[in-house]
Amino acid sequence: MKVTTKKDFSKRGAAGCLVIPFFEAKKAKAASNIDLFEEIKAPIEALDFTGKKEEIALVYLKGKQEPRALLLGLGKEEEITEESIRNSFAAAVKKCQQLRASKINLVFPKKCRTEHLFRSVLEGLNLSNYFFHKLKKDSLHAETVLLLDEVEIVGVDEKDKEEIEKVKIISTGVHLVRDLVNNNADEITPQKLAEVAKEFEKISPKVKVTVFDKKRIEEEKMGLLLAVNRASFRDPAFIIVEYLPSKSDDRTVLIGKGITFDSGGLSLKPTESMIKMKTDMSGAAAVLGVIYVAAKLNLNKNIIAVVPATENSIGSKSYKPGDVYSSYSGKTVEVLNTDAEGRLILADAISYAVKNLKPKRMIDIASLTGAVAIALGEEIAGLFCNDKEMAKKLLASGLNTGELLWELPLHPEYKKLIKSDIADLKNVAQREGSCITAALFLEDFVGKIPWAHIDIGSTACYNKTKGYYTSAGTGYGLRLIYDFLENL
Ligand code: BES
Ligand code: ZN
Repeated sequence: MKVTTKKDFSKRGAAGCLVIPFFEAKKAKAASNIDLFEEIKAPIEALDFTGKKEEIALVYLKGKQEPRALLLGLGKEEEITEESIRNSFAAAVKKCQQLRASKINLVFPKKCRTEHLFRSVLEGLNLSNYFFHKLKKDSLHAETVLLLDEVEIVGVDEKDKEEIEKVKIISTGVHLVRDLVNNNADEITPQKLAEVAKEFEKISPKVKVTVFDKKRIEEEKMGLLLAVNRASFRDPAFIIVEYLPSKSDDRTVLIGKGITFDSGGLSLKPTESMIKMKTDMSGAAAVLGVIYVAAKLNLNKNIIAVVPATENSIGSKSYKPGDVYSSYSGKTVEVLNTDAEGRLILADAISYAVKNLKPKRMIDIASLTGAVAIALGEEIAGLFCNDKEMAKKLLASGLNTGELLWELPLHPEYKKLIKSDIADLKNVAQREGSCITAALFLEDFVGKIPWAHIDIGSTACYNKTKGYYTSAGTGYGLRLIYDFLENL
């Protein structure tokens, strides 16, 4: 989507719709001082439209550059937030998509001239302009969404170009993450994730991608990744994407769970729970998306993304409940449930990073448990962190981006729940607090390095469109982690 600007309202070009924002009041109050047309006064005078958050009224115009105006409610002026602005403009975009207007003009609200609110307007427009068309044969059919090609923002000047370009790149990154999550599991295989990562080398010479194939993973003795992979006819991949633009020794290692399909293995999932499991590589997609954006925007921070990738399939070669497997670190794990596979492949990736990649800090992001969704609902991801400062910064980035986090405890007393009688650890404990015991399992492989674990079992995938998120893959995590890195 192209975003252009025009300072002068009278010079705007033709478009399918003119979007005019209002603040909520008894009589809705225009959010800009552009002289309004007679036609749009009617719904305001009649109090049919009062400017409530995300409220929309359509008015038909005569002899203007646009055949119709969309009156958009922003809510009460004193209650505006970055997130409410994102959601309001997302609502306008969705309505314009239905109207099949490919170009719209937008009257810019004065109040949004601040750096943060301007960005929020752009985010609302860009992030919501997404639809996963690829698997829909009748995608040209009338009821399918038509994406916007162009938004002309009226009332802002040239100097905003840089911010417009930045939000566009970040949104393109989020759309890439969503595409990876929404595509078929048979398409987004471990090998495909490696190919996607390899492509990033073309963006910037500062990106270097290394992919370990099955043979190399065996030589490295990543016993847990190999165990999870055993029943899959597809080989695993261990992907390392280095983006090292700075000479400083500060580097952040990002680890993303790359289960390209989670059947549960021999501890087979019931049909209903298995349906969403092509999305179990959302963490991997998010960390790859962060590298994409960092390389495109030339971010001067050293980042290494690590993706352990495999299917968790079922078959005669399956790894088995009750058996003990050896990890990359040498610790042994009694597998009591083959559906708790995420923590196994992450444990090998974390140990590999600690031993070989000299991380100053590590963040893993994973659709690790269903329990986190029970605890926090679908709009908030779980944060577990062994470092107070880092937790504070991540929580702040959550508020900045609207990709919310809530901190949950790495309660030391619960460590006893994952002690095994026959091995060093077991991979599941009781049902109660199971997103905490999953995090404690990972912590066992971290050591003293500042580390955060983000459980996106809640936020990675939605059943319906909400705000600037479209249904299915949300792309959650990219903007959160990028904001954190930028503010380091
Ligand atoms: N991929 C799932 C977690 C998940 C569930 C993410 C639902 C998104 C929605 C993970 O591998 C898993 O199966 N976890 C189990 C762990 C259990 C066996 C201890 C779970 O959460 O039920
Ligand atoms: Zn699982």
